[in-house]
Amino acid sequence: MQLALSTWQEIEHYLKQSTGIIIPIGSTEQHGPNGLIGTDTICPVRIAGDISGRERILIAPAIAYGMSQHHMAFPGTVTLRPATLIQVVIDVVSSLHRHGFTHFYFVNGHGGNIAPVTAAFSEIYAAIQGNASHPLRCKLANWWRNDAITSLARELYGDAEGYHATVSEVSLSYFAHPEAVKDVAIAPVVAPTGDIYDAADFRRQFPDGRMGSSPQLASIDAGERFCKLAVDALTADYHQFLAS
Ligand code: NI
Repeated sequence: MQLALSTWQEIEHYLKQSTGIIIPIGSTEQHGPNGLIGTDTICPVRIAGDISGRERILIAPAIAYGMSQHHMAFPGTVTLRPATLIQVVIDVVSSLHRHGFTHFYFVNGHGGNIAPVTAAFSEIYAAIQGNASHPLRCKLANWWRNDAITSLARELYGDAEGYHATVSEVSLSYFAHPEAVKDVAIAPVVAPTGDIYDAADFRRQFPDGRMGSSPQLASIDAGERFCKLAVDALTADYHQFLAS
């Protein structure tokens, strides 16, 4: 059930049965030579959509821009400053909370969002402190960080899974958008690894945008497997979260 495709009356009705909502959040940033700029948003949108296809759970429109400062030396990347992203999350949660939503489950596709989104949750809790009549819980679920995904990635790719433009995320994005699969030569086979500093340094260290990965191994079939594992894990986690 999509918020954007519902009427206000349908949302009023939904709220009588559930006060939980899933909010996909990602980024618009380079993902190496064969990864889509929308990868980090495409993955959580697909996962959330499949969760909603199984059960009547409301999905909010995605927050498609994230904190991508370190990718700004690559054309097409759009970043929110950390403070902006914090405010966006606060305003989205506050708006929905006002209508009666109490449980906000963010399905996240981008590691750079973790610090600002977690800071936003702390700001939200600080603002409602002592207001026990309006319970509010927020959770950030990083789709790629669970045992099932990690072990499949290890089994299929070993160390070539990498850290940015990973094989699993490129595969999942190809599964969601087979019309956008890229067939390009990639060298070296495995990208370099290192620490992240500013945007110019990132491009110097990681010239084609990958970190430690071999996304030429990506496939639609693997993407379907990763997607199903993520949907299983996050559906269970969402129900546990609602019970909290
Ligand atoms: Ni990514």
